[in-house]
Amino acid sequence: MVDSVRQVVINSPLDMHLHFREGAMAQTVIPLSSYSFAGGVIMPNLVPAVNNFERLTGYLAEIKSIVGEDLFEPYMTLFFKQYSYQELEQFKPHILGIKLYPAGVTTNSENGVAAINKTEATMKYMEELGIPLLVHGETHGFVLDRERLFLPIFEYLADKFPRLKIIMEHITTAEAVALLDKHDNLYSTFTLHHLIITLDDLAGGLLRPHLFCKPIAKRPEDRAALLNAAVQAHPKLMFGSDSAPHPIDKKEACGCAAGIFTAPIALQALVDLFEQHNALDNLQAFVSDNAQKIYGVTPPQKSITLESTPYKVPEMYGEVVPMFAGRKLPWSITKVNNLI
Ligand code: DOR
Ligand code: ZN
Repeated sequence: MVDSVRQVVINSPLDMHLHFREGAMAQTVIPLSSYSFAGGVIMPNLVPAVNNFERLTGYLAEIKSIVGEDLFEPYMTLFFKQYSYQELEQFKPHILGIKLYPAGVTTNSENGVAAINKTEATMKYMEELGIPLLVHGETHGFVLDRERLFLPIFEYLADKFPRLKIIMEHITTAEAVALLDKHDNLYSTFTLHHLIITLDDLAGGLLRPHLFCKPIAKRPEDRAALLNAAVQAHPKLMFGSDSAPHPIDKKEACGCAAGIFTAPIALQALVDLFEQHNALDNLQAFVSDNAQKIYGVTPPQKSITLESTPYKVPEMYGEVVPMFAGRKLPWSITKVNNLI
């Protein structure tokens, strides 16, 4: 018997954590997301950072000009610094949230926050204005413990600002997943790669620079906890790829840049993963509906059809090597319908 081709339709998929960069890199990567997603949360860790009105509006204009006719909503973020109440009032209609990076923990975060206790005035204003706080939750501790060591800070902030929506970005540990059920105002994004790889895939055999990212992939039991929550579409979590392109010479280098480029293969790989776990019914919530509820956003109406026909992942997109480069994935995108 011949297997019939199966179909999955996803309505308005959202990527709630995404690095677009600027200039030539943005030209390469933005169309790959704007084709198959209805919107994405755009990270502000550029050089210089997106932390003032001019940078914000300039970056948004660049993104929109590259998105062109595609139906794709860029949800903008600001790089956390101390902002006044008046500034935040002005920013509010133009941003989805503010992204806090502890200083020096990852790419372009040197001007991040050095002391959390000096940030509380801004957080209070954000709470009053209803602006969510997105956090890269890692310390400078031992690399496998960095996320765990940050968790008390999440708990402190969640208690201190109970009306502030706090998003634990790209969590990687079972302990972080457990926190979602302890504090009403904590939410999280999950990447694709942390649902698939562990530290072994990165460093257990030959070193795989294209699987190196921050936070670093963890233990099998951590991945299992993430996967369990994802396939159930736990209502406090959202898909956020953290797709983070770097040119090949910065990845295959002595001193490899952190970041995994997953945007063009994310939906195909998620369908495969959810199918393997008999959870295709929950994929719509994981890649769109949960995020719409958590952030209160309504993305453009767009439907993406995938079919169970193999898709060969390109070796490169411009100068960037994607996750699964050169491999065959069992699902491909066959149709994109813009419904408006
Ligand atoms: O791996 C990462 N790459 N993690 C981050 O937090 C930042 C990102 C990037 O901007 O390259
Ligand atoms: Zn990121």
